[in-house]
Amino acid sequence: ARVDKAGHKHFMAKEIAEQPQVIGEALNHYLPAGGAEVVLPGNGIDFSRIERLTMVACGTAFYACLTAKYWFEQLARLPVEVDIASEFRYREPPITPGTLALFVSQSGETADTLAALRFCEGKAAQIVSVINVPESSIARESDLALPIHAGVEIGVASTKAFTCQLTVLLMLALKAAADRGTLDADEIADHLAAMRGLPQALNGALDQNDEIRAAAQRLSEARDVLFLGRGQMYPLALEGALKLKEISYIHAEGYASGELKHGPIALIDKHMPVVVMAPRDDLFDKTVSNMQEVMARKGKVVLVSDESGIAEAHEGTFATVRMPAVHPLLAPIVYAVPAQLLAYHAAVAKGTDVDQPRNLAKSVTVE
Ligand code: G6P
Repeated sequence: ARVDKAGHKHFMAKEIAEQPQVIGEALNHYLPAGGAEVVLPGNGIDFSRIERLTMVACGTAFYACLTAKYWFEQLARLPVEVDIASEFRYREPPITPGTLALFVSQSGETADTLAALRFCEGKAAQIVSVINVPESSIARESDLALPIHAGVEIGVASTKAFTCQLTVLLMLALKAAADRGTLDADEIADHLAAMRGLPQALNGALDQNDEIRAAAQRLSEARDVLFLGRGQMYPLALEGALKLKEISYIHAEGYASGELKHGPIALIDKHMPVVVMAPRDDLFDKTVSNMQEVMARKGKVVLVSDESGIAEAHEGTFATVRMPAVHPLLAPIVYAVPAQLLAYHAAVAKGTDVDQPRNLAKSVTVE
């Protein structure tokens, strides 16, 4: 079937707006109604037999893996390695028989990711992929392929595939926690119940579109933008910077808040917007103190937080973006929306070709 823009100006806008619905689809496929456990297709995965997890991907899918590392380690106490496919394939990393090799790819056709998968054949305990296209090469060559159910994604800058990848990876981490007995049944049920609220939380994030557009218009005048996050929000800072550079051509970098002092602080002046992704979680106070270091040097802070975080720390910021209060595990998924919309509206303000940015391809099938 032909996919149209359904009244949106760009496919990217449509795909951002679709996220509550497609995440709902992904949840329905892995969480049977009324059940309190994650159900995988086919023979599934028995994580109690896995000793370590190696995740490999490119681009936005790589940032989904980096986020998931926090979840697998924290929830399932599983050692995790994450690598970019083009590095992994030539590094010849030792793969022990207890390793689960997990490949994440929207298209399922990225040449480097496919080559990394082939390198693991016959070495890993099991080869699993998280893909959007079930007929793809990566899906076909995996022992188990887990579809993300995002539907066709046309915008070159990945949006709904990213949040659907995160949703499936978080469900997998909870399955791993159940298999390994690192969380009890009640804790798992609580986390899964929170996940069922994702579509509503995503709608709450999308409701802030006007506020985000206003902040983005100011970002669009910058030459460089820095994105900061801590813990599981760090990979999202990387993804926010990637989105902005891909479609608006503004130079952007993502940094772990705690690394600010080790380099990027040298760049801060009144021309430098700094987007801070900071839900009010256990690390909030530390991130706020990094943000104050930025403001003390006249950097222009865009604080993305929830009601209580903004009430606590808005003073001296350049702009704020209010997110719904969410379960801490879900924050990277919900805060992906402002990361995407900031890039989108900055690109629209600059008049770039949002859906077909220069020099980029949707799927990189050559090395
Ligand atoms: C290209 C696309 C990105 C995507 C990356 C990985 O660079 O422009 O949006 O994240 O490839 O693609 P994959 O299909 O493997 O997820």
